[in-house]
Amino acid sequence: MALSRAWILHTAEDAHQSAAMAARRFHELAGHQQNPARRFRVALAGGGTPKRFYQTLAESHRTAIDWSRIDFFWSDERWVPPDDPQSNYRLARECLLDPLSIPETQIFRVAAESGDADQSAAEYERTIVEQLGEPPVFDLILLGVGEDGHTASLFPGSAALKETVRWVVSNWVEKLQAWRITFTLPLLNQAKHIFFLVNGPGKADAMEAIFRGPSLPAARVRPVQGEVEWFADTAAAGRLLTGP
Ligand code: 6PG
Repeated sequence: MALSRAWILHTAEDAHQSAAMAARRFHELAGHQQNPARRFRVALAGGGTPKRFYQTLAESHRTAIDWSRIDFFWSDERWVPPDDPQSNYRLARECLLDPLSIPETQIFRVAAESGDADQSAAEYERTIVEQLGEPPVFDLILLGVGEDGHTASLFPGSAALKETVRWVVSNWVEKLQAWRITFTLPLLNQAKHIFFLVNGPGKADAMEAIFRGPSLPAARVRPVQGEVEWFADTAAAGRLLTGP
């Protein structure tokens, strides 16, 4: 079994600097594609942490990146309409896509507002395969980490964690009493690059557990050919720097 490449941990004094570091790294990856005709496909993260990262990209990297070559997807989505305050799409729309005037043709959101979650997951999976081929290899997938060590919507003990074939599934999250649509580990582990964005003291226990062993969902993100980079403030990752 091929082992994934090493994880890279970037730490910063605070969440603002952590976001700036991740934005610079995004610029390096997205801004310097050898083949200008090649699309750069990125899957955006959910939750609140990416907001500052998105704002930094839109404000400080607006002109330095050729945004016309970048296609935007989501690594997970809540089962809510696109204008719902809980929507991961809405957050990215407001903080990144609208400020950069990204055209609809470059935006591939999850249809999470109607019908059946399984059907929506299957439709999103079809869209991803149509756009990226099979196996679908994202240039970059952005992820957060919950205090319980979940990532995307792969929560501990949830059915989606056991998926070994599908790229996108619906997932009932008992603790939230809610449906989610999420990338699976097989899809995450196809990626060329993964960025984890993790800040705050509330994540310190999860970070310590993730870097110490394979039990939590985020610890199982080990792309065979890809590189994983963590962007964390010292409140979240400080214990990892001081050793056992
Ligand atoms: C979601 C995310 C989820 C998130 C973590 C961290 O839809 O909520 O995909 O995995 O990244 O829960 O959330 P915060 O960034 O808000 O701490």
